[in-house]
Amino acid sequence: MENLSARLAINGMGRIGRTLVRLLHQKGLIKNLIAVNDIMSKENLIYLLKYDSIRGTFPCEIIPTPNGFSIDDHEIFYLQQNEIKNLPWKNFSIDAIIEATGLFTHSSEASHHLTSGAKRVLLTTFSKDIPTKVIGVNQAQIKEALIISPGDCTINCVAPIIHLMKENFGVDSVHVNVIQGYTTRQELIDKPYKGLRRGRAAAHSIIPFEVNIKPVLENIFPELQDKIESMSTRVPVPCGAIAGISLVLKKSVNTQTINSLIEKGSRAELKNIIDITYDPIVSTDILNNSHSSTIDGQLTKVTSQHLRLMAWFDNEWGYANRLLDWLVFLNK
Ligand SMILES: NC(=O)c1ccc[n+]([C@@H]2O[C@H](COP(=O)([O-])OP(=O)(O)OC[C@H]3O[C@@H](n4cnc5c(N)ncnc54)[C@H](OP(=O)(O)O)[C@@H]3O)[C@@H](O)[C@H]2O)c1
Repeated sequence: MENLSARLAINGMGRIGRTLVRLLHQKGLIKNLIAVNDIMSKENLIYLLKYDSIRGTFPCEIIPTPNGFSIDDHEIFYLQQNEIKNLPWKNFSIDAIIEATGLFTHSSEASHHLTSGAKRVLLTTFSKDIPTKVIGVNQAQIKEALIISPGDCTINCVAPIIHLMKENFGVDSVHVNVIQGYTTRQELIDKPYKGLRRGRAAAHSIIPFEVNIKPVLENIFPELQDKIESMSTRVPVPCGAIAGISLVLKKSVNTQTINSLIEKGSRAELKNIIDITYDPIVSTDILNNSHSSTIDGQLTKVTSQHLRLMAWFDNEWGYANRLLDWLVFLNK
């Protein structure tokens, strides 16, 4: 069991919020979860926690209580507030709030949780104005911060790999294409959307669109300013992803050297964060994998200084595991 004494709350009980509840339960930490907030009805939340199309049925009873619901005889308060400033974190002595609506990512918005009495805020994506810190790359720089911006699942997949290559061979440039299942930020049926392609029916097409991870990665790796490009390709699966990471290195390498380096990193400084498989897996096989990034060793390709890596990740479960790593790290 992880060592965690913090009193936790989650704002936004969507894919990431509910996945985190499952993870806390699996790790024997559900008693740390004091309250959750969303705008859906309590009945609907309990239903979605219990039955999940990706993760299956919740492994124990979830029982409604007057104030919320209970899991393993532990009552979790359910609040239904639209506005952060109405959330009573002070009354609950909340140490860390996980902000998982995806809506309040600017410090001016997220800081309302602090005003409401939470001691710290852990975002679940990158922020518009708070530098991103990534577990396994630069998390040590942030111990005292009150609002933590841990990046999204893609940043957490690619940043440790870029970091490892940079430390060992030097990196001249990086191109990333993340091939990922659809999320709630796409449409089920064609609809107007400001990013035009994002409004196309998610389960019907391969949908390329821009992602804004370039400035985030450039901030993490300032020496790669203007040397990073990225895009996302959304595909008709509900979860699971593979990132194509192409790097121009400062030294010539070969496939064996690269895969050996990943193997070594996965046993040492990047243990539990990166992994490598030589099995011929497909996206279903990565579901419920807790790593940020699992390199497909069979797909590692090298021509002199040009390296192409393919990195699998479960965009929900792997990411929820990093959020838990943050909570444990901040609790020390
Ligand atoms: N899904 C992934 O694979 C993934 C991976 C890593 C990071 N992230 C990031 O995590 C964040 C959440 O993503 P998600 O996929 O979990 O999204 P999601 O499934 O849409 O969950 C967001 C939840 O917050 C609720 N909500 C909306 N407005 C609210 C308010 N004012 N107060 C409280 N709750 C409110 C939403 O309700 P409605 O549905 O009614 O609006 C929904 O239940 C995003 O920033 C995303 O980029 C997602």
